[in-house]
Amino acid sequence: MESTRRWGRNGPAESLAKDVQKAVEAAVWAPSVHNTQPWSFSHHGSRITLRADPDRRLGVADPTGREMLISCGAALLTLRIAVRWLGYEPQVRLLPDPDRPNLLADVILGGRAGESEDDRRLYEQIRRRRTHRGGFLPGHEISPSLRSAMELEARREGATPLVMEDPHALRVLAALTEAAESLQQLDAPYRREYARWAPRPGTSRPEGVHPAAYPRREPRTEPYFFPGRDFARGQGWGTGPGAGRTGDQDAVTGLVMLIATSGDTPCDWLGAGQALQRMLLRGAEEDVAAAFHTQALEIPELRELIRCRLCGGRYPQMLLRLGRADAAPASVRRPADQSMTEDF
Ligand SMILES: Cc1cc2nc3c(=O)[nH]c(=O)nc-3n(C[C@H](O)[C@H](O)[C@H](O)COP(=O)(O)O)c2cc1C
Repeated sequence: MESTRRWGRNGPAESLAKDVQKAVEAAVWAPSVHNTQPWSFSHHGSRITLRADPDRRLGVADPTGREMLISCGAALLTLRIAVRWLGYEPQVRLLPDPDRPNLLADVILGGRAGESEDDRRLYEQIRRRRTHRGGFLPGHEISPSLRSAMELEARREGATPLVMEDPHALRVLAALTEAAESLQQLDAPYRREYARWAPRPGTSRPEGVHPAAYPRREPRTEPYFFPGRDFARGQGWGTGPGAGRTGDQDAVTGLVMLIATSGDTPCDWLGAGQALQRMLLRGAEEDVAAAFHTQALEIPELRELIRCRLCGGRYPQMLLRLGRADAAPASVRRPADQSMTEDF
């Protein structure tokens, strides 16, 4: 893929440094819990190192760092796609040093990769993909072939996608989401942590979930309603009707899916994040968006119930709805160089 690999004025080293920069600029557009962007990148020559940033972990909602590592896994998959698009074969070493748990992966920009139409298409979705909050459009269901393709992407990264179709299971998941949301609202430390990552209108912070990213009034979807997180905290923030949000009476639930893994270790969490992002990028190609509802998975008792009763003993890592919406919400990121350093 010679064309994407032009040398800079100072030869291959400068060209490589630019490619490293481009790959990290893409990776930061991965989804992350509450848009915490809990990662940092460093580079040395052709090696990019991904680390978790524990200062950005949700200490109350995510004490084990599970969601932090799912987020970092999504960034790792994005980095891999970008590196391939830039013309290199990425060589990945996961968790290279057991004594340093925040050191998540080394990605070497290896030998030339063959040109792949598939990588290009996935790469193009990285900045287009957005988390949706609210209902989906009726009559725009996901075709069986796209659904299979998305499930395959998740399996390629070692996760098990479980599409929930049984009405009883769907009712249970919706009810547990509602219960979890209420339990979390009862909990003052949780509310304080939440406020930290849901800034008020007009904020210039390049992180957190901004009011432009959620609807002022959440439509009740049919046939099942999964409440979203109350990012506005009763202040009436959010985008209003007329802002192109999937409207109101006829908003549908969409396809409900759990992403599960056979183990529950940091390696499984990184795998779940990679599976999630690969699947989301594949869906985005055909304008499918995801709404996440991970509240119940943050409450150990509810997560255990979901594991035993709905996942056949596998560990649930993500709960999401998939469908098509009529508007893409806004999102923000820290500039890549704020989360990037050079190793010497
Ligand atoms: C592990 C994980 C859990 C998430 N849980 C939720 C959730 O419960 N509710 C929600 O609205 N978004 C959730 N999100 C989506 C993030 O809020 C979103 O990725 C972030 O705000 C960045 O926005 P973007 O995805 O539109 O780029 C989650 C994302 C990840 C990776």
